[in-house]
This record gives sequence, structure tokens and C-alpha cells, in this order.
Amino acid sequence: MKILKIGGSILTREKEIREEVIGRITSEISSSWGELILIHGVGYFGHPQASLCKLNEGLCSDNKSGVYETHRAVIELNKKILDSLADKGVPVIPIHPLSCITGKDGRIDSFNIRCIELAVKNGFLPVLHGDIVSDCVKGCCIVSGDQLVSYIARKFSHAQKSSICNHIEKIGVATNVDGVYDKEGKIIREINPSNLKTILNQRFEGGKKYDVTGGMRGKVIELTHIKEESLIFNGEKEGLIRKFLNGTKLEGTIIRGFLRERK
Ligand SMILES: Nc1ncnc2c1ncn2[C@@H]1O[C@H](COP(=O)(O)OP(=O)(O)O)[C@@H](O)[C@H]1O
Ligand SMILES: [Mg+2]
Repeated sequence: MKILKIGGSILTREKEIREEVIGRITSEISSSWGELILIHGVGYFGHPQASLCKLNEGLCSDNKSGVYETHRAVIELNKKILDSLADKGVPVIPIHPLSCITGKDGRIDSFNIRCIELAVKNGFLPVLHGDIVSDCVKGCCIVSGDQLVSYIARKFSHAQKSSICNHIEKIGVATNVDGVYDKEGKIIREINPSNLKTILNQRFEGGKKYDVTGGMRGKVIELTHIKEESLIFNGEKEGLIRKFLNGTKLEGTIIRGFLRERK
């Protein structure tokens, strides 16, 4: 089984949903998906709404309406992706974090992954996305697509023996650049315990204006908490998502997971 996350940076541009790009990506997925958990980011459909209402800082007296405002933007993008996949014959099962995940001070606290297991076992493609969720400390919090990748991979890793699904064999994180760049602008081929600190100390710039989930730096941190290795690659380039799903070796940044326990 594979996990594929598609970055919101690929799916949206400013206030626009990139329908052509979505069409291209869903074609690549529909021809080669197999056993897959699909997660997508939300880009400009979620980040600005959450950021303007300061939802990443939690609930306060006047930002309650921002919860649905954020979710509404997210599901507008999500629907385009689901519909495009369904129109190509892929039996999707939407899983909306707001309805089934809770947070604790910004990290996922409860999520019964059985809905994913059963979907995969029955031959469906479960589709999740970054979202706003209820949080027992802050009232609400943002769960990024990257946090979902990390949480789900760890859950499946722990549950392997009793799991009704095959284990996770590949984790791909498609974004709009070729991988993680070093200070000189060269792609870092591998991130592992020996070079992580240096990499995290470098400046990460140039992500989305309203990013509420830590951009590329946040992504790297999430992926280091997975036991399995993952690959950050360029999903903007035609054919690479298909290649990832077909098991072809791809260029990008490999994160050698080293599973430090984290919620
Ligand atoms: N060192 C770096 N290497 C690669 N990308 C970086 C780096 N620093 C900042 N970025 C920015 O991070 C962006 C990708 O992160 P993000 O916008 O969160 O993507 P996604 O939507 O896929 O989660 C890239 O477009 C790039 O501009
Ligand atoms: Mg991001």
C-alpha cells in the first residue's frame, strides 16, 4: 500500500483552483493507483481563511465562524478532486478530518483509521485533506496534509500485525519544487539523522503567503517522524506522480524516517 500526498501548492494558484492540473493529476492516479491512500493539501483554499481568523492560534470569542469558512474553502477544492477522480472511474471514499479527527494542542489526538483500512480493503481510494478540526486544548486546530501523512503512516506501522491491509511500502509527497534545496540551491538527495539539524537551521523561504502549516520546513519535520522512508518530489512535472505510483525510481529528496515518537 502507498501513501501519496499532493501539495496544495500544485492544486491552487492564488484564488484559483487549477482545474487543468487537477485533471492531469487525476488521470495519472486513475491509471496507476492500486492500493493507495490519497491525501491532498489545500493551498489557497484554506490557508488564507484560517490565517485571517487566526484559527491556528485556537478559538476565541469572535472567530467561530472561521471554522466553517475554512472547511468550506477546503471542501470546494476537495470536491473538484473527488469529482475528477470519480469521473475517471475511480471509486473514491472522501474522509473529511473535521468530521472524524480531533486534535490536542495542534496535534492529532484521536482518529480511527479503520475507515481507511476498510476503504482500501474493499477496493476504494480513500481521499483525505488538510482541514480544521476540534482541539481539546485550543478549541480548534489545523491538521495539515503533511501531518496526516505522518500520523497515518505511523498508525499503520504500529497496527501492522492486526491490520487488515498490506503494510505501507511507499510514501510520496508531491510538491511544486524538485525536493528540498540546500543553501546553494542544490537539491538535498537525502535527509537523515546526521544532516537534519543543519538542514532545519537553514532559512526556508518562498512558500505560500498565508501558510499556516510550516511550509517546506514543517513538511520535513513531519516526515522525519515516520519509520518508513518517504520521498519529496515534483508533482508539477507531468508523469512523475504516475511514475511514483508505478514504482519507478524518482529524483527528489528522500527522508530516511527515524521514528521519534510524536502525536
Ligand atoms: N529549502 C527549500 N527547499 C525547497 N522548497 C523550499 C525551501 N524553502 C522554502 N521552500 C518553499 O516551499 C514551498 C513548498 O512548500 P509548501 O508551499 O508548503 O508546499 P505544499 O503545498 O506542497 O505543502 C516551495 O514552493 C518553496 O518555495
Ligand atoms: Mg505545505
